Amino acid sequence: MSEVSTDAVTAAVTEARPVLVVDFGAQYAQLIARRVREASVYSEIVPHTITAAEVAAKNPVGIVLSGGPSSVYEPGSPDLDPGILQLGVPVMGICYGFQVMAKQLGGEVARTGRREYGSTPMRVVGDGGVLLAGQPDAQTTWMSHGDSVSQAPEGFDVLASTEDTPVAAFASDERQLYGVQWHPEVKHSEFGQRVLENFLHRAAGIPADWNSGSVITEQVARIREQVGSARVICGLSGGVDSAVAAAIVHEAVGDQLVCVFVDHGLLRADERRQVEEDYVAATGIRLVTVDAREQFLDALAGVTDPESKRKIIGREFIRTFEGAAEALVLEAQGAGEAVRFLVQGTLYPDVVESGGGTGTANIKSHHNVGGLPEDLEFELVEPLRALFKDEVRAIGRELGLPEAIVGRQPFPGPGLGIRIIGEVTLERLDLLREADAIVRAELTAAGLDEEIWQCPVVLLADVRSVGVQGDGRTYGHPIVLRPVSSEDAMTADWTRLPYDVLARISNRITNEVDGVNRVVLDVTSKPPGTIEWE
Ligand code: XMP
Repeated sequence: MSEVSTDAVTAAVTEARPVLVVDFGAQYAQLIARRVREASVYSEIVPHTITAAEVAAKNPVGIVLSGGPSSVYEPGSPDLDPGILQLGVPVMGICYGFQVMAKQLGGEVARTGRREYGSTPMRVVGDGGVLLAGQPDAQTTWMSHGDSVSQAPEGFDVLASTEDTPVAAFASDERQLYGVQWHPEVKHSEFGQRVLENFLHRAAGIPADWNSGSVITEQVARIREQVGSARVICGLSGGVDSAVAAAIVHEAVGDQLVCVFVDHGLLRADERRQVEEDYVAATGIRLVTVDAREQFLDALAGVTDPESKRKIIGREFIRTFEGAAEALVLEAQGAGEAVRFLVQGTLYPDVVESGGGTGTANIKSHHNVGGLPEDLEFELVEPLRALFKDEVRAIGRELGLPEAIVGRQPFPGPGLGIRIIGEVTLERLDLLREADAIVRAELTAAGLDEEIWQCPVVLLADVRSVGVQGDGRTYGHPIVLRPVSSEDAMTADWTRLPYDVLARISNRITNEVDGVNRVVLDVTSKPPGTIEWE
């Protein structure tokens, strides 16, 4: 058996020629990359320090320069290898990227001293060129900038302007270079997606042929090539990512794959059954369930500190999973075969945020990437490494997985263990499971699943307060509802749920769940709050 190597972790994930999204340091690059993919074109994020030679080696079909927080005049502000604009690859600059282009190509960027921020009226100049042709002359765009392009580079047409910015978009069809001052990737820009699509399909001539079906076909071929006739194991968590990753691998190598599902007792109501019955029925996957509920409860007894809980749960999980894996390895050896591969549901944001493969800053060491045990003796199969969450869901649906799993909200690995504030006991877990099931059922019944990114339900087990129910006083625990809306969990806002839905949830929980006498709503955005309480 071979060890996990850096090569395995950073290996190319697809054959598709990418549109490269150059990251100038704000949070826009991921959003741009997603919008490009929504236009059915494969995209990859690269750091702004990438050289022209490195870009050329990636053989891109187009390049998008992202926005960024700096001024092009600030000393040390992020720059771009000027050779990149000379490669003959179509480029579109956005916001800061637009200004970098203007500066490098001989235009003028002026420090106007005025900021445009938020919704800004924009006017199309002339026919709007390939980016804006056929669109309304007056549009609302989303802006966030101080400096402005005051003069387009020679040979470039001005396509749009705003009150404060004479050059709000420019183009050279001949050189296939384009730029806009606003953020087309943001939904508040009225025709934003159209502008991006015009750049991709019309200006750069890139076909719209990247979709769930093509990803599955390509990954199935790659997995077959990587795995050969060896056996593969996969840990299922009950979440979307591992479920879809396993399903693709099963599509590729069938019963060479065995899945292990550790029931640590920190799952939500009905999750185990959904995996053991519905998921298995839909996929035909071979599944081994390990019932480790008692083991986890014993290990967590008396522990209240959230970091300690996380460590204990992580440790017990790895122990249990490795135990099950070991048994499968031995069983395979008995049959004269080797288990050489481990499937992981690592997603693209995990890769980007861990700085893996792109050289971008290490924002956080994600549990899937940074936290791999060093002596792991499997090679990794990571079929979702190039994908965003919504793309993973689309693939899961294409593969026919149960909606209850594919549409599932993000759920932390340590599960309900970190949603109980205080010691974790079986009684408290059952109580929280009941409250959580009510919340999920009511949100779904109210048709709110699309609006909500996730809604942690938290038990304040260390808090009790006085209430009154029937004829008597109660001394019960509060349940916290934490509904949030988000694009990527990096930032979030609390979801404005309708009062009648909140009232129904509150009534049901206080009536049906023994030991709870209050329901409270968390109205904090992230930042400063996190999504989970812990
Ligand atoms: P926070 O609480 O940091 O959460 O705002 C951000 C997102 O990450 C999820 N989360 C986890 N996911 N393992 C996971 O797989 C974990 O240990 C973990 N902790 C938090 C959280 O639910 C939210 O979606």
